[in-house]
Amino acid sequence: MARTHVAIYPGSFDPVTNGHIDLVKRTLQVFDEIIVAIATNPSKDSSLFSVSERLEMIQEVFRGLGKRVRSDSFEGLLVDYADRVGSHVIIRGLRAISDFEYEFQMAMMNRGLKPKIETLFMMTGESYFYISSRLVKEVVSLGGDVSGLVPTIVLKKLKEKFTSGGLSRQ
Ligand code: PNS
Repeated sequence: MARTHVAIYPGSFDPVTNGHIDLVKRTLQVFDEIIVAIATNPSKDSSLFSVSERLEMIQEVFRGLGKRVRSDSFEGLLVDYADRVGSHVIIRGLRAISDFEYEFQMAMMNRGLKPKIETLFMMTGESYFYISSRLVKEVVSLGGDVSGLVPTIVLKKLKEKFTSGGLSRQ
């Protein structure tokens, strides 16, 4: 029987954006399955959304793509997680050149930790070059409109966070 090729797409996904969705769809053209994996670090977590909120949004957003997209969260080293789920491919998105240094350092560190695990970089679609979860949060917190940059469910949750959710606009 042919092997299933599974890739891990790790990140904070705080929250998932249309850029992430684009990357998942691109990855599915190359791999059979993708695991969208939220890295958690309880000792220094400054995320806007809890892990369960982030997982819920990811599940909702990728529901239409069926079983080929799984969602998960993990604590500890990414390379150990990769071992646990039996994948040796880490997918990361590259937007502008400014992403490169950070990504290069992580890829080299992960390779040093576990040489059999490869990091593959996918180029983000042109329309998503400037989207980041951090900027999306900042814009919404200041009352700006990010529709078109995030899925509808994420837009709704962001608005809830910055209004009734108790977080004030600064
Ligand atoms: O979306 P992000 O914040 O750029 O993702 C960074 C992430 C989650 C991929 C990275 O911080 C990570 O892999 N964290 C897990 C812990 C780990 O393995 N750290 C060493 C990375 S070299």
